[in-house]
Amino acid sequence: MPKKTFKSRLFANSNVIAMHAYTPGEQPAGSGWVKLNTNENPYPPSPQVASALRQEIRRDGARLRLYPNPTGKNLREALAKHHDVAADWILAGNGSDDILNLLMRVYSGPGRAAGMTTPSYSLYPVLAQLQGCKLIEVPFGNDFALNGAGIAKCRANIFFLTSPNAPSGVGFTPSQIAALAKKFPGILVIDEAYAPFARDNAAHLVKKYPRLVVTRTFSKAYSLAGMRVGYALAHPGIIELLDRARDSYNLDRLAQTAALAAIGDPAYYKKTIARVVRTREAFRKKISRLGWFAQPSQANFVLIEPANSCGQTGPDVAAALFAWLKDRKILVRYFGKHPLTHASLRVTIGTDQEMAALTAALDSWLKLAPPR
Ligand SMILES: Cc1ncc(COP(=O)(O)O)c(C=O)c1O
Repeated sequence: MPKKTFKSRLFANSNVIAMHAYTPGEQPAGSGWVKLNTNENPYPPSPQVASALRQEIRRDGARLRLYPNPTGKNLREALAKHHDVAADWILAGNGSDDILNLLMRVYSGPGRAAGMTTPSYSLYPVLAQLQGCKLIEVPFGNDFALNGAGIAKCRANIFFLTSPNAPSGVGFTPSQIAALAKKFPGILVIDEAYAPFARDNAAHLVKKYPRLVVTRTFSKAYSLAGMRVGYALAHPGIIELLDRARDSYNLDRLAQTAALAAIGDPAYYKKTIARVVRTREAFRKKISRLGWFAQPSQANFVLIEPANSCGQTGPDVAAALFAWLKDRKILVRYFGKHPLTHASLRVTIGTDQEMAALTAALDSWLKLAPPR
């Protein structure tokens, strides 16, 4: 055993020493949880996924001896067809986090600032710290509307915009994105992790705006968070640079197989996505009936501002409800650090039964004696 006094930091990259690691949402142990905290899909992936995986593993798993296709060729070709572009417009990776990391590595660094709207996906600052680049934050107002003028003049070399946004759920229109792509002079990344749940998206705009990158994931709409597959859609000039920086096998054999089977079953996903959207709208109505505010979400989650039985809102109320639900094994997400989210809870849309369990719990909470 090395001595406790060993100072590993003396040898380390100073960016890593200074950075704060990303904090993922809780994955609770044990069963019986109503888990509405990490925007996973409540429905299983297409049955074709499990059958393709069984086929890939076969009886003895012998194919696992072999490296996967290094570029995810079949998947890239299927995704290219899906988006009506050539395969050199697509780069697949180990979740969209891998793609975001590659974008940050290639387009930021000392002297090349990265930008983001605040609050937004908390991985972006972590990736920026790792590259030792300046991070420029363009704040949202209370309505989470797009501040296109603020982004256009922020002087970032690469800007990350989540649409639909997380954690608000507010989606930006293709015409807003196109206007921004025209004005922003750097690389504009639209993180579309939640786009399949939205009315529209910006994927088609990459053909018109060469500095625009759209990132997508199989973790949400395709119910494959456990497989880790994401991709970038962008001009081949960008894809070629990302391709240089990626791990040589950044997508394993089973992940490629699962994603390929999923993309091959659009009819199944049309149904599950429509179910999630229906449940989301029913949940928003229920929240309005309680007299609480809910952001108009285009994603598979809703940011709600709870009130207690006296009608009070605020960080203490949100934190108390979060803890009360957790005691009852209902897990939602609380972002207590930011003033735009500290009075709210982000609720992932689950099955109708899960949402009924949550809304029954909210009704019981409102019947509690008011706090003194
Ligand atoms: C905005 C946003 N982008 C990207 C991701 C990560 O997706 P993946 O699972 O593909 O890495 C998430 C996950 O929660 C997210 O909220």
